[in-house]
Amino acid sequence: MDSNSTLKAELKRLTRELASHKIELHQTRGYLHSILQNSTDMIFATEVTGIVISFSKGAEKALGYSVEEVIGRSIEDLAEDQEGFHHVMATCEERGCSMAPDIYFRNKEGKRVHCHASLMSLTNRDGQRVGTIGVCRDITQWKKLQDDLIQVDRLAEMGRVAAGVAHELNNPMAVITEASGWAGMVIKDAKGLSPEDRQELEDVIKKISAQTRRCRNVTHKLLDFVRDSAPSKTDFDIHTLIKETIDFLKPELKHTPIKIHLNFAEEPLSVNSDPKLLEQVLVNFITNAIHAVLEKQGNQGRIEIGTTKADSQVEIRITDNGGGIPKEAREEIFDLFYTTKPPGKGTGLGLPICRNIVGNLGGKITLDSEVGVGTTFTIQIPIS
Ligand SMILES: Nc1ncnc2c1ncn2[C@@H]1O[C@H](COP(=O)(O)OP(=O)(O)O)[C@@H](O)[C@H]1O
Ligand SMILES: [Mg+2]
Repeated sequence: MDSNSTLKAELKRLTRELASHKIELHQTRGYLHSILQNSTDMIFATEVTGIVISFSKGAEKALGYSVEEVIGRSIEDLAEDQEGFHHVMATCEERGCSMAPDIYFRNKEGKRVHCHASLMSLTNRDGQRVGTIGVCRDITQWKKLQDDLIQVDRLAEMGRVAAGVAHELNNPMAVITEASGWAGMVIKDAKGLSPEDRQELEDVIKKISAQTRRCRNVTHKLLDFVRDSAPSKTDFDIHTLIKETIDFLKPELKHTPIKIHLNFAEEPLSVNSDPKLLEQVLVNFITNAIHAVLEKQGNQGRIEIGTTKADSQVEIRITDNGGGIPKEAREEIFDLFYTTKPPGKGTGLGLPICRNIVGNLGGKITLDSEVGVGTTFTIQIPIS
């Protein structure tokens, strides 16, 4: 073989090798491009000085900056604690790689983005370090969920403690009620008391029994809430239940000018649900309406209870012309212990209990309110 043909063969081999390298390069580039475009992780590369030279789609999404906005800036600018982040980058420089479970970035809106990051050295062909690559996972939502779970757990624990306390208080409260009733009878039969003394003692007894009733009311409500009793369903007529509930509240209404208007659907509304639980819900809503109306209206207080049948649902609406509920409070009012009433009058337990019960009965509560005009709470429950 002459040298010419040897050269030719070598050239052919090299050309083939180059082509295969080209293909490999092309594939690697595609591979990288695909990662940078599609990974939900935030991937960036910087020069040794920390100046950003590459910023992935995931990074754009996580931090809200476009690639043009960050190229040429220092990556440390985007961190919440720039000094801390600098330290992490320096560790990476020393050891070639580092993990940082908690890096906080600030997104374009200034909100914190909690990231779990791994940083690696970017090296050239000779193994020299020319920069840093960062792969960061946004764990903000995950962390929030974790915090929420801890909070829920704490609330559940508080519920258990509250139920225990309520239970413990019930017995002494029953004893006080009984003893004050007995003391009342003793005073009634007592001889040799001046009329003023008798009056004073009777007033004290009345106060004791009124206050213990209030305490028991709170403990019972708390226990009701925690007990989460399973509904026991029967067939009954909603209109009869509403009328009975109003009768039950007569003592509460007796000394007020409030009128309760009924605006019932014409046909009887028979449902298969739990009348005891539903009555508890109605008592809560009507009591709230009474409070709202008394606070605002003086003699013009008006409460309307309306019903409608719609498909497989029954709707009960309790409308009052009280002060209304501001928009920002409309979710909060369903929170445990949220109350705007003075101590002794409000417990903040009524609405969360109602929501719980109605939910257990397969229904839902909505509300419509205008400050200064009034409020309508709508309870929807399935007919069966
Ligand atoms: N009909 C209503 N009109 C205006 N505000 C209301 C009405 N019903 C409830 N609220 C508001 O919702 C709060 C929470 O109600 P609730 O859970 O029943 O607790 P409480 O009645 O013990 O305060 C009340 O303190 C009040 O601010
Ligand atoms: Mg209430």
